[in-house]
Amino acid sequence: MNAVDSILSCRELVKTFPSGDRTIEVLTGVDFRLNRGESVSIRGESGSGKTTLLSVLAGLEEPDSGALLWSGEDAFAMSSDTMARTRGGFIGLVFQSFYLIPELNAFENVLISRRMLGSLNRGYRERARMLLDRVGLTERLNHLPSQLSGGERQRVALARALMNGPRVVLADEPTGNLDETTGNNVIDTLLRLCREDGVSLVLVTHNQEHAARTDRQMLLHSGHLEKMRESTL
Ligand SMILES: Nc1ncnc2c1ncn2[C@@H]1O[C@H](COP(=O)(O)OP(=O)(O)OP(=O)(O)O)[C@@H](O)[C@H]1O
Ligand SMILES: [Mg+2]
Repeated sequence: MNAVDSILSCRELVKTFPSGDRTIEVLTGVDFRLNRGESVSIRGESGSGKTTLLSVLAGLEEPDSGALLWSGEDAFAMSSDTMARTRGGFIGLVFQSFYLIPELNAFENVLISRRMLGSLNRGYRERARMLLDRVGLTERLNHLPSQLSGGERQRVALARALMNGPRVVLADEPTGNLDETTGNNVIDTLLRLCREDGVSLVLVTHNQEHAARTDRQMLLHSGHLEKMRESTL
């Protein structure tokens, strides 16, 4: 694979956090390349730095050193305004706890990510409706998050993540708060949407079966990413 195939990549990412008079070294040199349309899972022990890594890849957390490229562009060289705008159109985020806005219904929760990028025209409303249709929530447009099941809330969050037509979705334990069957349905939907739209996916999960459904399985261990060995699968 050459650089042209890579939609997001990082080199030698180092991230530390101060802890009293000590420093915790969470990422000690992460090298990673995500290809166009590819899905990659990341597993690793609790506290190994998976959420920290996704936050850096999303440009939400600045590393101590190392480089991050979004479509070949140096993300941390951008002004914060440019970075926020670029992120909004380039990356879709999905979290364990959904993070829907409680006062907004399902339709408005999907539309909100577009509103943050600027104007809302009729086309965007149709796109939000179409995405909710694709995640199987045609009948739930007007429901508030409190009126939706956990799986339905996460499917709203999937539609929201895809609203701006991102090239990459970063999902941090998207099934962590769901029972097994509901979680499997959410993963089915996530993989299907990304495949249909040619969107690359990084899936952080503790679930071996979910990890096995991605194109490539990685392990975050001792601060860096390794290919998952057969013996640990
Ligand atoms: N803002 C912060 N300040 C200080 N330490 C932090 C901060 N964020 C994370 N850490 C520490 O960094 C380490 C990695 O945390 P992180 O949340 O990335 O782990 P994780 O692999 O996502 O774990 P889990 O599987 O439990 O979600 C932990 O030791 C955590 O305490
Ligand atoms: Mg985490």
